[in-house]
Amino acid sequence: MTSALNLSPTNLVASGVQRAVYFHPTDRTKLIKVLKPSTKMPRRNNFNGIVDRWFPSTRLRQIRKEYSEYLRIMLGHPEPEFRAPMSHMFGFVSTNIGLGCLTESVLNADGTLGQTLGAKAKAQTLSDHDIDLLNDTIARIFANDIRASDMNPNNFVFGHRDNGDGPGQEECVLVDGFGDIHAIPVRSMGKWSNRIGLNDSCERLARNTKLTWHKNTLQFSR
Ligand SMILES: Nc1ncnc2c1ncn2[C@@H]1O[C@H](COP(=O)(O)OP(=O)(O)O)[C@@H](O)[C@H]1O
Ligand SMILES: [Mg+2]
Repeated sequence: MTSALNLSPTNLVASGVQRAVYFHPTDRTKLIKVLKPSTKMPRRNNFNGIVDRWFPSTRLRQIRKEYSEYLRIMLGHPEPEFRAPMSHMFGFVSTNIGLGCLTESVLNADGTLGQTLGAKAKAQTLSDHDIDLLNDTIARIFANDIRASDMNPNNFVFGHRDNGDGPGQEECVLVDGFGDIHAIPVRSMGKWSNRIGLNDSCERLARNTKLTWHKNTLQFSR
């Protein structure tokens, strides 16, 4: 007998462009991301939007790239003290609304879903402490040469992840947009070209959050 996990609208916590995000029905430390059917996606007329309409398989390719980047990073860092700047990914679960990607949740201290960098920037509630947390994550992205050329402010979430023994330290976690997201893999090559891509991405992130990016120190400030 096969059984699928039942996700109800009450479990829905967030919705991105591509994916609907649900709390796991019995485990708050986990989220389930389900790809939205393409008819329910807002029509986008930029390059990626057009590619999605014509080649829906590129969306699947993005997921595949995200997982392969996750594998590359984790297999390259077996040391127990490694603190991944991106959310851990635990594979797939069958759900009543389709295939779900199981991932860890980033939560506020009260157990609600953490806020994104985008939401905090928009509400002008980004504190100095938040900027320190963002800088710590950015430093780990550069140090580990992570392919993340889609650093959108809504893909960073502030909060705590479960460390197996309750909520871990507060951090700013990259929850989406890693792996080579381009249909044409312009930046899937070397470390040097990846750094150029990361730098461009940080400049864009600064513009979108009204922060300043310092490319010499690889840090953001007000
Ligand atoms: N691991 C996570 N912890 C907390 N919130 C998350 C997590 N992953 C995603 N979210 C929330 O869900 C939104 C959409 O998820 P995301 O993975 O970015 O989907 P999409 O591919 O549609 O952009 C994010 O902008 C964020 O608000
Ligand atoms: Mg996203």
